Amino acid sequence: MADITLFPQPARLERIGADFSLAADARIIAHDRALGEILASYLRPATGFALPVQETESSEPAADANVIILEKMVAGDSPEAYSLVAGGTALRLQAADRRGFLHGFQTIRQLLPRQILAGEVAPGVDWRIPGLELDDEPAFGWRGLHLDVGRHFFPLDFIKQFIDMLAFYKFNIFHWHLTEDQGWRIEIQKYPLLTEIGGFRSETIVGNNMNANEYDGQPYGGFYTQAEIREAVDYAGARGITIVPEIEMPGHAVAALTAYPALGCRGEGYEVRRKWGIAKDIFCAGNDEVFVFLENVLDEVLALFPSEYIHIGGDEAPKDRWKACQACQARIQAEGLADERELQSWFIRRIESWLNARGRKMLGWDEILEGGLAPNATVMSWRGSEGGIAAANAGHDVVMTPNTYCYLDYYQSVDTQSEPLAIPSILPLRQVWDYVVIPPQIDKEKRHHILGGQGNIWTEYMPNSDHVEYMMFPRAIAIADVLWHHPQERDYAALVERLQRHLPSLDTLGVNYRRLDEADSA
Ligand code: ACM
Ligand code: ZN
Repeated sequence: MADITLFPQPARLERIGADFSLAADARIIAHDRALGEILASYLRPATGFALPVQETESSEPAADANVIILEKMVAGDSPEAYSLVAGGTALRLQAADRRGFLHGFQTIRQLLPRQILAGEVAPGVDWRIPGLELDDEPAFGWRGLHLDVGRHFFPLDFIKQFIDMLAFYKFNIFHWHLTEDQGWRIEIQKYPLLTEIGGFRSETIVGNNMNANEYDGQPYGGFYTQAEIREAVDYAGARGITIVPEIEMPGHAVAALTAYPALGCRGEGYEVRRKWGIAKDIFCAGNDEVFVFLENVLDEVLALFPSEYIHIGGDEAPKDRWKACQACQARIQAEGLADERELQSWFIRRIESWLNARGRKMLGWDEILEGGLAPNATVMSWRGSEGGIAAANAGHDVVMTPNTYCYLDYYQSVDTQSEPLAIPSILPLRQVWDYVVIPPQIDKEKRHHILGGQGNIWTEYMPNSDHVEYMMFPRAIAIADVLWHHPQERDYAALVERLQRHLPSLDTLGVNYRRLDEADSA
């Protein structure tokens, strides 16, 4: 299929018959005008064609007309399934659900000459799609990318571009990491200091976090207003993507503690962090006001995000402060807990029952296994796959995001000197491509607990959006491919060939990426 390159690769694709040529007088015939308009809006800028949308129940056009037909029909087992037939004067897209149509639109964009991705008229292009039949649906229902906006802040415009790229590669989850030691990024109306104070740090460490003596002297910060958050949620929803918000607790909370010091065990002496790493200061588990605060925050979060899943962090929460805190020790006594690990588990369970009572599911990093897992928790396995294996075998749902395959903040090349500064670990494209989502250690009857996987983008060393794109691509494309069709056999040379044909599309889109070099292809 050398002349057709799609990412992710579809489940079934067959070349048949004559090519479909999109002509200037083409029409879109759709059972749903709004859907037709979405497709038209993708096709109009580059072609300059008017492409009227006609809403109709009957989808049998005149034989000589140049048409794109959107037809509501069961196309596969998944609600995200779609099928596409291209040939002669017609291009026919079938799906049962809006999500399937949206995936089909992205496939059409990738099948046309790449100039279709240009934002303005691209003259002299023959808008042709090879004759084909294609049936497609995803292997996994959770296909995510995570973005940390705490360490560095990215404005709403970039968040929208990020969402566009997720849609282009058929991801369906945007995990938005909104709170950190270095910055609280979501406006909470009840607690304005979270962003007024917690949204800004006085300066930032320069270079590698290990050389901790040099700071840049530049105040840094930013946050999203609730209106902007709503805009992002709507923008994502229109593109078939759910935003899963993450509000970190009990750790990674120094920005919040700086704004409201009474919420920490020490009660004072906090400063929005200027360097990276793990902070000892975390929310106090002995103070009931902490839960009042977190529930009020989450109340506003639930109102903004329709996502069934709410991520509460749970990772990297050192127990030093809890050990020295009278209130935390009193809580351990009162609740009959064995130690601080069980106190963390108690904390997370309390939040889970609050979320469950409001119809939401709690998701947390795999540290939430320590001291006993909350009864309905979904685990995001990041410290390798072990946490995910344990959780799935215990009957919990799991999202796999092992750092060894999915951490896109790691260096892309073993030749780290030739790469911009990153966290000191290495994850080349080749390794991402070897990512097997369901480890064999999970019992056969428990494998359905693996909802899917995601790539994570931690931004300590990514000061701007160009740099985020550089770290994302091409590795996120390989993750998209693995999560969508999960090939049993992984032909790395074939992946590199496909990418070499595909990557110019990112140039047309104006998206930055790391060029493949000889080491990638060897
Ligand atoms: C994590 O990388 N701390 C979840
Ligand atoms: Zn405490």
